[in-house]
Amino acid sequence: MYQTLLTDLQDGTLVVTINRPDKLNALNKDVIEELGKVVDEIYNNAEIKSAILTGSGEKAFVAGADISEFTTLDAAGGSALAKKGQDNVFDKIENSPKPIVAAVNGFALGGGCELAMSCHFRTASENAKFGQPEVNLGLIPGYGGTQRLTQLVGKGKAMELMMTADMIGADEAKALGLVNHVWPLAELLSKTKEILQKIHTKAPIAISKVISCVNDAAKADSNGFANEVKRFGECFSTEDMREGTTAFLEKRKAIFKGK
Ligand code: COA
Repeated sequence: MYQTLLTDLQDGTLVVTINRPDKLNALNKDVIEELGKVVDEIYNNAEIKSAILTGSGEKAFVAGADISEFTTLDAAGGSALAKKGQDNVFDKIENSPKPIVAAVNGFALGGGCELAMSCHFRTASENAKFGQPEVNLGLIPGYGGTQRLTQLVGKGKAMELMMTADMIGADEAKALGLVNHVWPLAELLSKTKEILQKIHTKAPIAISKVISCVNDAAKADSNGFANEVKRFGECFSTEDMREGTTAFLEKRKAIFKGK
């Protein structure tokens, strides 16, 4: 069904593997197009409760946008490339009502680091490496990196990383808050799935509202506190909220239906 992606749905988690290992899974037009489609599938397929993005092979998550597609672009073409990617992939991942986690299994550079940062959180293998090396190419990040890296690690470190083009390893990324967990490569997917299995036991509508409200904390033009008040109120009209509170009071485990 996809040419550049592998997909595998098990226990409600769709594992999406970007599959161009000979090019270190670089994001060319086809990958961006198919990532947009797979995110639509994640939104619309009721059997999918969560997703993991990862890269094929043992070397790279994604080594960046495909540099070979940059050579013919002018200013308008560059802006259009960035806008299309942000609208169809990166922002759509961030705003997904279902959790999407990046399992970073090697190089996450440029657009790869940006792809990981657009996910709701990140896990990494011990060999993972992160960086925004665009200034080496006379470029800046274009898939949201200047904004999301600053949100995740703070202004000073984001400035240094983007100005030096330095790569950092998984442990430093964890210390900076860029990734939540670091595991041996062989355990990366299974441990990430375990976290998602835990999330699957919670009320899905409440999970989607957490995503919406937490995303608001990073937006200058929206009032996250007001959104939280609204979404909190909305939870009271869900069956799952009645079930969750009743189950607690009856000292039993809640069974959520996503309604
Ligand atoms: N775009 C296009 N092709 C890429 C790529 C990218 N971002 N990153 C890697 N590749 C290709 C290489 O050109 C090479 O292709 P080839 O075998 O046809 O020559 C193949 O992937 C393997 O990469 P290679 O550079 O040989 O591996 P390496 O182990 O020596 O180095 C990296 C690994 C990640 C350090 C190096 O590939 C690199 O610096 N990539 C670019 C990173 C970057 O600047 N990303 C931001 C883009 S905006």
